[in-house]
Amino acid sequence: MKLLHIDSSIQGAGSASRAVSAAVTERLRAENPAIEIAYRDLAAQPLPHLTLDVLADPAANAELQAFLAADVVVIGAGLYNFSIPSQLKAWLDRVMIAGQTFSYGPEGPVGLVGGKRVIVALARGGLYGAGAPAAPLEHGETYLGAAFGFIGIKPEFIIAEGVALGDEARTAAVDAARVQASNLAASSLAA
Ligand SMILES: Cc1cc2nc3c(=O)[nH]c(=O)nc-3n(C[C@H](O)[C@H](O)[C@H](O)COP(=O)(O)O)c2cc1C
Repeated sequence: MKLLHIDSSIQGAGSASRAVSAAVTERLRAENPAIEIAYRDLAAQPLPHLTLDVLADPAANAELQAFLAADVVVIGAGLYNFSIPSQLKAWLDRVMIAGQTFSYGPEGPVGLVGGKRVIVALARGGLYGAGAPAAPLEHGETYLGAAFGFIGIKPEFIIAEGVALGDEARTAAVDAARVQASNLAASSLAA
């Protein structure tokens, strides 16, 4: 089984999403010690904006090929300006390729990679849960849900939120997300 672990936070060792995505990967590794893990740090080695030549040659698109090869994808992302880090958007632009991860049929778009499992560790400074006043401003969880849904995947989210509301709130949110990661059900670990 192959796992692709991607981080996109610009906050280095202080990143909440990196802490949680690492806990998810550790959980999956503990469950399946033979799992093959590839790691990609999109902040340390950012991708350029999408250009037309990338679309022209899917075989040369290393991000797409790594994604296609993976059974499980773990993504760490922070909510930046109500959306995902632009580093992660550049990666998604290389993965959401017509004819590769989705196609258009007579009845509309069809996702082509439904067999994969995607787990997103998302960190948010504020509170955006159901009923929160800021909920309509949340375009991280909603965007990633829509984008992966479009290619046939229902991503699982582990969310640490309210991390900007003080040290205590941050510690509680990250710890709770870590516990959630370590409790990922064994039965759901298979791709
Ligand atoms: C550039 C930047 C933009 C941010 N924008 C938002 C935002 O729009 N809403 C929010 O709730 N928190 C925002 N935050 C706080 C982050 O969501 C919070 O720091 C979270 O921990 C980010 O994940 P990370 O620690 O893995 O980078 C922002 C933080 C940064 C650095």
